[in-house]
Amino acid sequence: MSAHHLDIGLRVNGEAVAARVEARKTLVDFLRDDLSLTGSHVGCEHGVCGACTVLLDGAVIRDCLVFAVQCDGAEVETIEGLSDAGTIADLQLAFQQRNALQCGYCTPGMLISANELLAQDSVPSRDAIREHLAGNYCRCTGYQAIVDAVEAVARTRAGVKA
Ligand code: FES
Ligand code: FES
Repeated sequence: MSAHHLDIGLRVNGEAVAARVEARKTLVDFLRDDLSLTGSHVGCEHGVCGACTVLLDGAVIRDCLVFAVQCDGAEVETIEGLSDAGTIADLQLAFQQRNALQCGYCTPGMLISANELLAQDSVPSRDAIREHLAGNYCRCTGYQAIVDAVEAVARTRAGVKA
């Protein structure tokens, strides 16, 4: 039994976490089941839909593809951490105001991916926004409102009049 479990230590949303985890447990299952961080959603479970997106050592990743034990010593940031820190408050507000979410299943991953884009390129084109979010599937909105929201925030952050 213990052969299939490992002790790991990592930081999640700035807090130290020590845990014994099953070797085959994915990071998203660890976050959701063991830490009750249920903002990272499980969709396809094979790296395609983006619902599970988190930051691992500052990089945007699909945590359905990463085992929790691989994150020993790492820094993980989830939608809860970004939300609590206020990092994406403007994006969250824009998504609400522009109806860029319906069921909300894709939204945490969308927000993390959008925030990554806005950190790289202050006012991306609509095509660049679509391209960047192409790995985040949304079954509800048709994407138009999401692109509108991201574009509006990009312009506001850059001080450009809408
Ligand atoms: S659940 Fe991870 S990419 Fe779909
Ligand atoms: S809002 Fe439902 S999947 Fe995007």
